[in-house]
Amino acid sequence: MKKILLAGGAGYIGSHTAVELINSGYDVIIADNYSNSCPEAVRRIEEITGKSVKAYELDIKDKTALETVFKENKIDAVIHFAGLKAVGESVAKPVLYYRNNIDTTLSLLECMEEFGVKNIIFSSSATVYGEENPVPYTEKMKRGTCTNPYGWTKVMMEQILEDAANADKELSVVLLRYFNPIGAHESGKIGEDPQGIPNNLMPYVAQVAVGRREKLTIFGNDYDTPDGTCRRDYIHVVDLAKGHVKAIDYILSHEGVEIFNLGTGTPYSVTEIVETFENVNDMKINHVYGDRRPGDLPESYANADKALEVLGWKTEKTLADMCRDTWNWQKNNPNGYKK
Ligand code: NAD
Ligand code: WQD
Repeated sequence: MKKILLAGGAGYIGSHTAVELINSGYDVIIADNYSNSCPEAVRRIEEITGKSVKAYELDIKDKTALETVFKENKIDAVIHFAGLKAVGESVAKPVLYYRNNIDTTLSLLECMEEFGVKNIIFSSSATVYGEENPVPYTEKMKRGTCTNPYGWTKVMMEQILEDAANADKELSVVLLRYFNPIGAHESGKIGEDPQGIPNNLMPYVAQVAVGRREKLTIFGNDYDTPDGTCRRDYIHVVDLAKGHVKAIDYILSHEGVEIFNLGTGTPYSVTEIVETFENVNDMKINHVYGDRRPGDLPESYANADKALEVLGWKTEKTLADMCRDTWNWQKNNPNGYKK
């Protein structure tokens, strides 16, 4: 059975990917410092899959600690989810973001070299297309100018991984550029559990729905878009997780560097998200319109053709599924993983 190391695997996307990999016959090992997650997420993965999961609590930046994982397990491929991801916080604490996100990547690459592991999949982001590329984004476009340090860490890590693969022809790298992951596992046992005030739209909507926040502020309704609010390519996290399984199948039999957009290719506006959430879940979401949020682009969505052509992957779930599954997770876990 092929062994996949999930760095940051207890987090939102990592936990859903762990479930899909296990269900597809892979053995997963999780390494996480629980800085933005908790061991309960690993327990829930075990509950959903009925399989026990080996998990290491460690900081990926700590190379000596990470070496233990590689020593104790014959790893076939790494998926690198471990990173800090709050855009606003990255503006306030850029050094923390550069240190954590870049160093985790270097630590993983050094251990992989030391232990002869030749496959790495990286959690990149649509943010690398920057401000100047037109939508829909294709993988052939050059990386653009980011509006925040978080985005720059993704640009830099993509470059580091490409350079490493250029230097070592046996090293295979897959860069997965996620669009806007939302939703939760249909069991309602795992989902997104942000610490403090949510930065992202869907967890904020879910917390208004469950009564933890009074109202949603929609950031700007004067954009040059059909209804004046920003449009994004929202993707169900389970579809995204299945994209990782396809990427693992691919990387185990191919060499070189490949980039894939993981999105649906269809944008929805903020207003459409709120309305769909209300209709599907038969409730009202208290909301007001406010100022634009600095750094927001009017539109961001994928051309998702390459993932279909090369990986045979496309999304299957609808926006209604995303809204229903988010609410199912939130209502069953009003305080996230905390009891
Ligand atoms: P998350 O915060 O839920 O998961 C990241 C995990 O990494 C957490 O469990 C955290 O504890 C762990 N981690 C962070 N630094 C670590 C370190 N130094 N050592 C060990 N563990 C560490 O975030 P997510 O939404 O699951 O995102 C996963 C990856 O995907 C991130 O790299 C993120 O930047 C990227 N991404 C996320 C989105 C999104 O909207 N969620 C979009 C594009 C890209
Ligand atoms: C979506 C839309 C907001 C909150 C971010 C990162 C990106 C990627 C995904 C990691 C926007 C609006 C939001 C609120 C609102 N992450 N909104 N009220 O900004 O598209 O992408 O997460 O790589 O890099 O930048 O996602 O969910 O924050 O916002 O009106 O309270 O919802 O203005 O139009 P975004 P988001």
